[in-house]
This record gives sequence, C-alpha cells and structure tokens, in this order.
Amino acid sequence: MLTIGVDIGGTKVAAGVVDEQGRVVEQALRPTPADQPDLVAETVADVVAELARGRRVEAVGVGAAGFVDESRSMVRFAPNLAWREEPLQKKINGLIGLPVIVENDANAMAWGETRFGAGRGQTHVVCVTIGTGIGGGLVFDGKLFRGRWGMGAELGHMQVVPGGRPCGCGNSGCWEQYASGNALVIEAGEIAERQPERAPVLREMTGERIRGEEVTAAARKGDEAALAAFDALADWLGQGLADLAAILDPGCFIVGGGVSRAADLFLDRARAAYADRITGRGHRPLADIRLAELGASAGLVGAADLARQR
Ligand code: BGC
Ligand code: NA
Ligand code: ZN
Repeated sequence: MLTIGVDIGGTKVAAGVVDEQGRVVEQALRPTPADQPDLVAETVADVVAELARGRRVEAVGVGAAGFVDESRSMVRFAPNLAWREEPLQKKINGLIGLPVIVENDANAMAWGETRFGAGRGQTHVVCVTIGTGIGGGLVFDGKLFRGRWGMGAELGHMQVVPGGRPCGCGNSGCWEQYASGNALVIEAGEIAERQPERAPVLREMTGERIRGEEVTAAARKGDEAALAAFDALADWLGQGLADLAAILDPGCFIVGGGVSRAADLFLDRARAAYADRITGRGHRPLADIRLAELGASAGLVGAADLARQR
C-alpha cells in the first residue's frame, strides 16, 4: 500500500509517494509560503492531491519543523517559523479527506534513516539534522521516542552557553545557535568583522548579509574566517554528541540536514572532538557518527512510513 510523505521546510515543501520498502515512487516540490500558516496547509493539500491522482493512497504523513503535540495533530510552537498552536492535521485533513498525521521533521527523518538509511539494523539511534537550526530524533528498539507530550528530542535547544546567543525559541545559548547553518553565518560574520584580513573571499563574495552557502563556498576557496566557522561548528557538534552519548549511549549517530552536504568540511573534526570529550573514554565503545543516506528525501520517507504505521 502506498502512503504520501510531506516535508515542510523553511523554503520548500517536498512531497513523495512512498512504498512499503521506503522507495519514493514519485516526487513533487512546491515553494513554502513563508509566514502564512494557512497557505502552508493549502500547499500541502494541493501537492498531495497532485500525487494521489490515479493512485490508491492510504494516509499522509507530514513532517514539520516544530513542537508537535502528543496526538500528532497540532504544531504548538516553531522556533524558526510562524506556527503557533497551528491545527495543521485538521486543516490538511479537511482539504483532502485522507488520514493525516503530523510529526516533528527531525523525528520523521530519524525514522526514515533508521528504517531505510544509515541506521538500518541499529537498535539505538540518535539523529541530528543540521539546517537553519538543529533538529533531533531518537529511535530506540524500533520505536520513535516522542516524550510524554510529543515534544521530546528537541536536541537543538539544550542550552550550552549560559547567556549566549539569542535563539528563536526565546532562550539564549541554545546548541542550535552554535552548531547549525545559522551558527556558521554568525560565526563567520563575527570573525570577518573582527579580523577582516582573515576573510578575503567571504568579503568579496557577500553583500550586507552573509548566506550559509556563501560560507561553504568561501571555505572551499580557503577563506580563513569561513574555515574557522566550520571548525567551531565541528567542535560544538562533537561536544554536543559527546553529551548526548553520556545520557543516551546510542549505537550510532546520524548527521543529516542541508549543512551535512558540506560534511567534508566538518565531520572528521567533529568525530575527533567527540572522541576527545566523551565521558568514560577508553572504557567504552565509541558510537559511529554517520552521514545520513537518504539525503533530502529522508524526512518525507520517514513521515510516509510513520503514516503507514499510524
Ligand atoms: C526546532 C525543531 C526542528 C529543528 C529542525 C528546531 O529549531 O525546534 O522542532 O526539528 O529546528 O528543523
Ligand atoms: Na525532534
Ligand atoms: Zn532554542
């Protein structure tokens, strides 16, 4: 039986028809209507209708970048998007008439990667998605961990620097302000301002505001500030994963999200920082830190599979 998975990102809505083996049979993309929650539900309904035409589809799973309630219907809060107490499931269901479940985007991705990607065969998986923010997903013994109220695994909002950088969640010093795409931009910008001589490529490339991809491109051209920003991200990532291992003792970590496309610029250093800082080192196995395998479709594949198992 086929289900449809939808991943609502900050810039695009990615949807796909997915079979029982996690294969994407057909895919479609739409731009995300920024800051307009109502239009988001309409966009999802529209893309689902397009994909479902001429097919028997059983259910729809939607991954959303925010705090989803225990009944998998409402996005109660989103640090980086406009959703507040948003009845997403109800709106989409009302438009298309198919069963709909809503799940946190990183949870959906963790599920997709564990079932069909880098975490296959693993029993204790911690997934971290690095994009604008940091998402987290935990799968233990074949089960997605959701917490008491559905809002567990918000790994990006561990407060790692007391009084640190302000976060979209309203707190300050959250991990996602130090090891995300957003953090790269902040870090590179700070260095470029303090020591302009270290940022020749970056200064050439960017206008008033630096963008994430520009930091990556500048790093590839040897820009010192951009490389230092990646080093900082790697150290914060390794440190965070070591802390998570102290609590969760996973068999593997999976690192995904848009920034992981530049993994060659930070992953080895993150692994070293992890090994260097993990508690009990020398007396415990070191969990693998793997790159996600399903790429941009991990979230929609996971959401579709969760809808199947609803
Ligand atoms: C949000 C999470 C989301 C993550 C990745 C974080 O800021 O709090 O809910 O999973 O970003 O999109
Ligand atoms: Na999560
Ligand atoms: Zn936060």
